[in-house]
Amino acid sequence: MRTILILNPKGGCGKSTIATNIAGYFAMRGKNVSLADCDQQCSSNDWLAIRPEHLARINHVPLKKGRLHVPIDTEILILDTPASIHDKKMVKILRVAQTMIIPVLPSAIDIRAAERFLKDLIKLRRKTVNNKIKIATIANRVNEMTIAADKIEDYLDNIKLPNGRKIPYMALLRATQNYVHAAEQGKTIFELAPSRTYYDREQWKPLLRWLNSKRSLP
Ligand SMILES: Nc1ncnc2c1ncn2[C@@H]1O[C@H](COP(=O)(O)OP(=O)(O)OP(=O)(O)O)[C@@H](O)[C@H]1O
Ligand SMILES: [Mg+2]
Repeated sequence: MRTILILNPKGGCGKSTIATNIAGYFAMRGKNVSLADCDQQCSSNDWLAIRPEHLARINHVPLKKGRLHVPIDTEILILDTPASIHDKKMVKILRVAQTMIIPVLPSAIDIRAAERFLKDLIKLRRKTVNNKIKIATIANRVNEMTIAADKIEDYLDNIKLPNGRKIPYMALLRATQNYVHAAEQGKTIFELAPSRTYYDREQWKPLLRWLNSKRSLP
């Protein structure tokens, strides 16, 4: 089973949005996908609950007594995580994932929070057995052609690990109500009218290529 983790302790950066869209994308490609919501807000579970039956099926992963009960035939597990996650829980989650995506919003506050989080993450990564987890960043909810858009691109494009390797910056997702409308209907943007979401689908391509390649695996 492959596990993809969406993590950034900063609230509202788009973790659940990215998690549900990735889950739907792989389910549409015929994979047996489970979506686990480690978040008490249960945004991903709420989304799953209203997902129309005729769309590609995604398994719900019940959280019982702090443990996730993942269906055994799962091929791809998507882990949506809460804001303000504490270190102990983060280490636990980091141990089981092969791939991690960090969404960041284009604001000075979010960039500073991401800097702090990445520092902590690098420390934790050394401590965890899973030092090989592949990480990528994405900029989310970006209003293009703004100074904030330039700043977030510049920041994400230049993040390096202590060994000098770059953390790949994989996508810029624009701010659009398409994500809001899709979420309201238990859908992904890949399940809305292509004419309306063409631009968004294009923006997802580099991230999806990365997820489909060995580069995103240890
Ligand atoms: N690219 C986008 N364009 C417009 N709205 C977006 C975009 N991405 C996310 N949103 C909206 O922003 C809000 C926050 O997104 P989301 O719930 O995915 O964030 P989160 O990181 O999971 O939040 P939390 O930390 O509270 O779990 C939601 O209303 C979502 O629909
Ligand atoms: Mg969430």
